[in-house]
Order: sequence, then C-alpha cells, then structure tokens
Amino acid sequence: MNSAPPLDKDHITALLEKAHSTYATNTTGANADYIPYLAKVPSQLFGIAVAFPDGSVLETGDTDYEFAIESISKVFNLALAIEQVGPEQLRQKVGADATGLPFNSVMALALHDEKPLSPLVNAGAMSTVSLIKAKDAEDRWQQVLDIQSRFAGRSISLSEEVNQSEQTTNFHNRGIAWILYSANSLYCDPMEACDVYTRGCSTLVTARDLALMGATLANGGVHPLTKEQVVSPQNVPRILSEMVMEGLYTASGDWLYSVGLPGKSGVGGGILAVAPGKLAISVFSPPLDKAGNSVRGQLVAEYICRELGLSIF
Ligand code: DON
Repeated sequence: MNSAPPLDKDHITALLEKAHSTYATNTTGANADYIPYLAKVPSQLFGIAVAFPDGSVLETGDTDYEFAIESISKVFNLALAIEQVGPEQLRQKVGADATGLPFNSVMALALHDEKPLSPLVNAGAMSTVSLIKAKDAEDRWQQVLDIQSRFAGRSISLSEEVNQSEQTTNFHNRGIAWILYSANSLYCDPMEACDVYTRGCSTLVTARDLALMGATLANGGVHPLTKEQVVSPQNVPRILSEMVMEGLYTASGDWLYSVGLPGKSGVGGGILAVAPGKLAISVFSPPLDKAGNSVRGQLVAEYICRELGLSIF
C-alpha cells in the first residue's frame, strides 16, 4: 500500500527549507582537489531545487550559483548517443552494468576485457562520446554542448577556467582513452574523445538548471518549459537504469537503498535524483565523500525522498 502524501508544493517548500537548515551545519567531506578549480569553490555554498513536469521549480539556498557540471554531463552524453546509435549498440559497445569500482578505475577495465561496462564512469563516458556521429571534434563538442542546453532549457556555456584546469591535469583520463582505443572500445580518435568529454564536464550549471534537466527525464524526455522532446520516451528508462546502476559509482547501492531513485553525481558538488513522472531534486554542495559524491547532496535527497515517499520500490 502506498501511504505517500500527495506532492503538495507548500509542503515541499517547507521540506527544502528544513533540509537546508538541518544539513548546512554538516561540514563532513572535502572539495575535490585533483582538479585545481574545484578545490577553490567555496565549500559552504549550498542550494537545493526541485522541478516538476509542469515547469514549476521550488528552490532554497545558493540555487543561482554556477558550478561545474562534471560527471553529471555523462547522463546527457548518454542521451545523445543512445538516440543516435540505439540502445542495443550502446549496450554492446559501451555496456549496461555497474563496475563496482571507482569512477576513474583502470582496474575495472582490466577485469572486463577493457570494456567500460557503464556510460557513467569516465571510461564509458569517453566511449559514449566517441559514438556520437560527428564530422570533426568541433561538431562533436557542439552536439555535447547543445544536448546540455536542450535538457536545461537555456543556453549552457563552457567555463574556460574549468576547462583549462581539467585539460591540463587529465592525464589519467588520457591514459584510459588510449587503453580503450587499444581494445577497440573507443570509436573515434582517443584524444578527441577525451578532449570533448572533458569540455562536457567543464560547463557551468545552477542547481535550478540541474533540477530542470532532471525534470526532463522525469517527464518522459520532454522539457517541462520548452516542451521540446529532448530524448525519446523509450530511451528514458534506459538512461534512468544506467543512473540506478552506476550514478553514484561505488555508493550507487547505498544511494538506492536509502533514496530509491535514479541519481547522478559530479565532483563539482552537484547531485541529481529523478522521480519518474513526479519531479527531480538537485542539490549543490561541494564537499564530497570518498566515492566522489556530495555529502550534503546525499543527505538532502534521502531526507526529501523519505518524507515524500518517492522511492520507486
Ligand atoms: O573526468 C573526471 O575525473 C572529471 N571531469 C569528472 C569526474 C566526476 O565528476 C566524478 N563524479 N563524481
């Protein structure tokens, strides 16, 4: 029996404020420091937004602060590639399974014949980017940027500063790209795939943008405000299932156990949860746990989902 209360927006606004005041005092975790830009973002920034299929957005805290999207971009790369090559090609060439290892793991490749398994880890994201049908690197990048903008319902931009910080430190990802290429798991020039993937991580979004991006998935692929069908309805469950399996990396099981929704995190401090047909929750708070997920983001998502009975199980 579903005893979940109806989704009353005044009630949800009160929950967001309660969550914000409760978890603002939690200073656990630390900013990502392997990308120099991220280490300097003020750790106390904290925003929560909820977007609905009707286009309304409820928000509290620092929801207008633009932060680096980082790994959350993997979801939108996946949406673009799956539309172009279809779900079976995507599964065969990239994979649809959890790695059980960190997001940048080389061991995960070694254990699985150099197949990425998931489009939501670094290896799989570069493999996914390489599947996008493009005439050159610039075309590939413009498509990656365009899909983020269509999901957000506004024009998303690259941060030159974030990109510079990433491109001058992404040696590990470059190594992964070459390993993939050597095993026929990367389908364009490896440095082009790494470069475009990295640029895709270096765009700026707000918590409000992220909530609307998630609400597009919650709304069967139709953006709640622009009404554009950004991704086909039949591909939405595939994207959400990848998020269930690997959205929070090695913490994906814990997240599912406590939140019960498809989710995705980024080392910029963003986190997204999608309740199909109902709403999307986004949180921005830079301090991360050891798996690379926003500490406050996970706490807020768990609290709101529990209070609203949003688990899909
Ligand atoms: O490739 C990287 O390492 C970063 N640009 C993104 C990693 C990331 O966001 C992992 N997420 N929690």
